[in-house]
Amino acid sequence: MPFRPAVASDADFLWRILLEAYNCNGEPRFTAEQLAAEPHAARCLVGWPRRDDFGVIAETVAGEPIGAAWARYLPESEPGYGFVAADVPELTLGLLPEHRGRGHGRALMEALVQAAAEGPAPVARLSLSVEDGNPAVHLYTTLGFTRVGRSGNADTMVLDVGTCPALLNNR
Ligand SMILES: CC(C)(COP(=O)(O)OP(=O)(O)OC[C@H]1O[C@@H](n2cnc3c(N)ncnc32)[C@H](O)[C@@H]1OP(=O)(O)O)[C@@H](O)C(=O)NCCC(=O)NCCS
Repeated sequence: MPFRPAVASDADFLWRILLEAYNCNGEPRFTAEQLAAEPHAARCLVGWPRRDDFGVIAETVAGEPIGAAWARYLPESEPGYGFVAADVPELTLGLLPEHRGRGHGRALMEALVQAAAEGPAPVARLSLSVEDGNPAVHLYTTLGFTRVGRSGNADTMVLDVGTCPALLNNR
């Protein structure tokens, strides 16, 4: 599965993936318009890319995007659902439905963690929010994310980037 950095022209695809992440339980709870009007969600993406944003796109061998993971620093006054601190970027992740369950999500997360560790301004920690019942929590736990809090019906999880098993195995 090829990966490349997410760039400005990926904005529309990232909005599509944000929608997948918010409709993660298979029910179409949000429309694209509702998501754009939901501050905590929209903050993770509006104005993409900001100076410190970073992300990864997974593509087919033909160059079609199938998934994305990205991270953004947000201030305490305008947090996302996975906020822990202004110096901890919040992560969003998703694959188009037909490409799930084949290991691409794990590979995508590992690529993002690698980008966090090796980018121009190395990132010490990453955070995310995972709703109760989303089986993606297994993926996050095995990558080294730990629960640090609750927000609504979701856990907030944090990864110390330097301790991510996938990263350590690649060194
Ligand atoms: C979350 C997501 C990116 C995971 O990608 P994926 O390619 O489906 O997951 P993988 O095949 O890489 O599996 C990763 C691990 O998590 C588990 N897992 C992840 N999603 C799962 C699901 N929907 N059902 C069951 N197990 C799941 C797998 O069992 C696997 O564990 P293993 O490696 O120990 O066998 C993808 O399912 C998705 O886009 N879901 C909808 C959007 C979403 O939920 N985003 C995250 C919001 S917090």
